[in-house]
Amino acid sequence: MAKKKDFIDELISQMTVEEKAAQMLQVPVSVVGMDEARKWARKGAGSFLNVLGEEMEELSRISREETRLKIPTIFGIDAVHGHCLNKDATIFPSQLAMACSWNKDLVEQIGKATATEVATEGIQWTFSPILCLARDPRWGRTNETFGEDKYLSGELGTAMIKGYQGEDLSDDTAILACAKHFIAYGEATGARDSYDTEITMRKVRDEFLSPFRKAVDAGCATFMTAYGSLDGVPLTANEKALRGLLRDELGFDGFVVTDWDTVNALIRRQKVCEDHGEASRLAAQAGNDMIMATLEFYDAIIKQVKAGKIKESYLDEAVKHILTVKLRLNMWKKPLKKGVPGSIGCKAHHNISLEAARDSVVLLKNNGVLPVRGATKVKKIAVIGPNADDIRAQYGDWTYFTHPVPGIEKEPVRPYVTLLEGIKDIAESKGIEVCYSYGCSVNRKDYFKGNFAGIPEFMEQCYIDNDHKAPFYKEMSYVNEAASIAKSCDLIVVAIGDNYNQAGEYNDRADLKPSGMQEALIRVLSTLNVPMVTVSIASKPLILTEAAEKSDAVICAFNGGMYGGQAVAEVIFGKLNPRGRLPISFPVMTGQVPVYYNQFPGWHEGRYVDCPEQPLYAFGEGLSYTRYDYSDLKFNKKTKTVTVNVTNKGKRKGIEVVQVYVNDVVSSVMTAVKNLAGFERVELDAGQTKKVSIKLDDEAFSVVLPDETTVIEPGKFEIMAGHSSKDKDLIKVTVTL
Ligand code: BGC
Repeated sequence: MAKKKDFIDELISQMTVEEKAAQMLQVPVSVVGMDEARKWARKGAGSFLNVLGEEMEELSRISREETRLKIPTIFGIDAVHGHCLNKDATIFPSQLAMACSWNKDLVEQIGKATATEVATEGIQWTFSPILCLARDPRWGRTNETFGEDKYLSGELGTAMIKGYQGEDLSDDTAILACAKHFIAYGEATGARDSYDTEITMRKVRDEFLSPFRKAVDAGCATFMTAYGSLDGVPLTANEKALRGLLRDELGFDGFVVTDWDTVNALIRRQKVCEDHGEASRLAAQAGNDMIMATLEFYDAIIKQVKAGKIKESYLDEAVKHILTVKLRLNMWKKPLKKGVPGSIGCKAHHNISLEAARDSVVLLKNNGVLPVRGATKVKKIAVIGPNADDIRAQYGDWTYFTHPVPGIEKEPVRPYVTLLEGIKDIAESKGIEVCYSYGCSVNRKDYFKGNFAGIPEFMEQCYIDNDHKAPFYKEMSYVNEAASIAKSCDLIVVAIGDNYNQAGEYNDRADLKPSGMQEALIRVLSTLNVPMVTVSIASKPLILTEAAEKSDAVICAFNGGMYGGQAVAEVIFGKLNPRGRLPISFPVMTGQVPVYYNQFPGWHEGRYVDCPEQPLYAFGEGLSYTRYDYSDLKFNKKTKTVTVNVTNKGKRKGIEVVQVYVNDVVSSVMTAVKNLAGFERVELDAGQTKKVSIKLDDEAFSVVLPDETTVIEPGKFEIMAGHSSKDKDLIKVTVTL
């Protein structure tokens, strides 16, 4: 250890201010182009992002051969659900879809497989996982999160970090993870991406810190700050959050990177700085080590140091954090990762993606129409809807479709299986006929302004303004065609949802209803008296209230990756007993948000006069083709362990996610009605009972006081265990601690 420190201290002592400033820079190659990137490499830029292949190798070579100190440069990429900016790589379900698995082992395997593929490209660093909570699904980046709950996000995030980083960062297949975005970024007011988060530091500690604390404890090597601000203080300039909380209190020992061009944003968007001099100084003083994409930082910080406005020791400290991580990667000996040749998009990784897709399907309603067993009752299936055969919608955000890097074309690359293809595969083997119709587009504009009951009357009952007439009639012709195909079928599977223009940065939504004519399509189809299954292939919980009312079954598939369509088809035909559980609640209507399960108890019971109190589907929910019973719940105070018996009451083997919640009955500040405190996936044969033990940690019982200290207050606690966060699904015991 001492040797490592000497090497780095010695190196820093030789560096000029210019070299230190360059080391703190991360240059976006996709924006500046290679000519400029080469110049930055010669200046000794510490990192580049969004570059692959020979160009990356060239920049790496320049840093090692054409700079004075020959410090290797590091490459970063957003491999957030697989190494998806590379078109040949394995594409896993989105983080939100993965979270439906509640499966830590699987998430770790996804991390490991992604790391192997990223490393095989030579790259050492992914900007993943997101540990922000999506408590208001209007937020465009909901799909990138593990959902609404801190405990689930922390557990799955830790698993992912382990998968990326492995045992030792110098291994050929280990890459740096990046816990982002620090902190409370998902909680921006009104779910408007990057906006101010109007909450206190007490709330930050109580609700949003836990997954990040776990990331530090898991050894996560890098952290990314957030675009937004906390109570008016931009996170990029937030010394209290970055130095105080992350570095000093949590003991983070890796390096912190800003988000994209956030130093510039201090001037242009957030307007807390006059110029680059001030913005660069604030960013460095606050505790950012690496500056992503604000290239003006270089000149500005050099001038600030030379003018005596900031101590050079700030730069020394930042550079030390960066170089220490580079040394842990063994970059002086292995400047680029080796990975495993042939592993990009290999069969083994595709198999993990398929398993992940299977884990990510959540069955939300079923009045008995599913599973479809064979051709006796169902001879012909109509597959309808804009997302039934659209691989771009199935993939969602952060793939080569949405974030192309130079040289990668945007045409879909096989293999993948859409829902239509998945249904056809299985149906054919059972002698069931499948027909398909597009149905309508996923369009942001809502052409439909009227109310209607059936197709012929529909046109007359609508008011359409002149601007919208032509597209409306086109959409209507799709709906009509779908209805005429579906009416002769025995089952309709209608796949609605959103597309990648409605997800991600800049794409928050004010209205979570399925856009365009999608609800109209469902209404029309529901008049045909054919059993109907609605599948939502979307980046987030959409409002499925009407779809659920009009359908016999509802399936949530989020963005299932390469094999998302196959997994849903397997559920429809009963080849797969659904085992996914919601990591996020589904609102009844948009105005009901936020509707996360762990609300405070309230005087007016949280009810609106025009909307039920409960969400349409709650956190933790998910049906299967069997049923589970819970009994004999016990809590051992000494070991803080919950035990409960779980029985599979049905006729099929299944996987249940046993969930444990805790409620602090009386606390000196308000606490949630319940908080997830543990979970365990158990496989149970038909009729089998298993005793499940889940150990809880101190956080399950702790509360953050107004002075920001965290304590466990003595008193009564309710310990609940069961199938979902809904009271009716939980059994409970009350204990005094
Ligand atoms: C996003 C980050 C991402 C970065 C680099 C930003 O716009 O907020 O999550 O890692 O870009 O692509």
